[in-house]
Amino acid sequence: MSQQQDILRDAMRRLNLTRDAFSGRLGVRRRALDTWLLPADSSESRAMPEMVGKFVAEILQREALGAAVGTGAPDDRPLAQRIGAEGKPQLLSVAQFDRGSLEDLFQVADIMQPIARRQKVTRILEGAVLGSLFFEASTRTRVSFGAAFCRLGGTVCDTTGFTFSSMAKGESIYDTSRVMSGYVDALVVRHPEQGSVAEFARATNIPVINAGDGPGEHPSQAILDLYTIQREFSRMGKLVDGTHVAMVGDLKYGRTVHSLIRLLALYRGLKFTLIAPPSLEMPAYLLELVARNGHVIEQTTSLQEGLRGADVVYATRIQKERFAGEEIEGYTPEFQVCKALVDAVCKPDTILMHPLPRDGRPGANDLSVDLNHDPRLAIFRQTDNGIPVRMALFAVLMGVEKQVARSMRDAGWRSPAHIGPDDADFDGLD
Ligand code: NCD
Repeated sequence: MSQQQDILRDAMRRLNLTRDAFSGRLGVRRRALDTWLLPADSSESRAMPEMVGKFVAEILQREALGAAVGTGAPDDRPLAQRIGAEGKPQLLSVAQFDRGSLEDLFQVADIMQPIARRQKVTRILEGAVLGSLFFEASTRTRVSFGAAFCRLGGTVCDTTGFTFSSMAKGESIYDTSRVMSGYVDALVVRHPEQGSVAEFARATNIPVINAGDGPGEHPSQAILDLYTIQREFSRMGKLVDGTHVAMVGDLKYGRTVHSLIRLLALYRGLKFTLIAPPSLEMPAYLLELVARNGHVIEQTTSLQEGLRGADVVYATRIQKERFAGEEIEGYTPEFQVCKALVDAVCKPDTILMHPLPRDGRPGANDLSVDLNHDPRLAIFRQTDNGIPVRMALFAVLMGVEKQVARSMRDAGWRSPAHIGPDDADFDGLD
């Protein structure tokens, strides 16, 4: 890890300290810490004194020793082995993570930020080919996985939909997976059936990432969601422990919330309010899992009640394509998260998230566009975070995460400081 920002951010995550608490621990002013955390190219940024860097390293070392005494030797195996599925470098479910391995992955994602922000380039995966198999609609997951692989120096071959793949001719998952493995070095797969991506993974030894298996899981989305929450909270001086998360919408079929609630359950003392139209409630096995970890869960059909006091509002789209002939009521207008409601019941520092796409069709009542200029709306910071997180996943599963920092060079082209015209001032500045 090279940059002072990465070192400081990582230390706060590992020590579970807010910026206020961390600056207190270091014996420096909060303002000083803020300037050290700014990107190096910001005019406000300041170099952290060498002594502070040494002190941070010492605190972390002491902490690691303490953990080793409590729980046995620290796990220093490569991250791919620690999170691997049945001994293979594959990502099928968020259940493969614990808090330590998640934080290690976030540290790799932080290292990727200058590449994601187009300041640096790397060729660390030069020569590697990604096979991207999407048997369901996708824009951001498919493109961001592809872009992440390309930004690491690899190339992408893809096929989309059943129509243009041999699965339309009755080919099995096993055959498809084994054939593809002879052509490419990693696979990203989305498929409408729960458990199908695990079947792809069993038929090969190359890295496989689950990009959504029907109503099952969407692990990379949940990881980037949590990474987003951590970064937003870091700016606000909040911790994930003890936070209040409201999840709204199709909690029955929405795989993003299934994965996210499991990841959040790794933290301590959370409160969840689950707000769903009747019959689209979160599956019982997930509620039990979260409750077993000591979190508070409240279920309600009142959006107004459910959002009150929430630190994070996570809205989702009604997954109509998964309704098996059921007559299910979607979002009626009283389920719409809109500016008037957010202003009435949310806090000034609530963050508003959505995995996207937002259903913008008349009557869909999905997350309202009238929030687009509200700085609490984090949806595009969330999608932007898809790149460093997916780069980190590839680097880890392909075993190059330790070499990335050294492999970086300056980008040879210029790109705008803010990618979107409506991006808030703090975008890219934390
Ligand atoms: C989600 C998905 O496909 O599960 N989209 C995404 O990957 N960001 C959510 C959805 O389709 O509603």
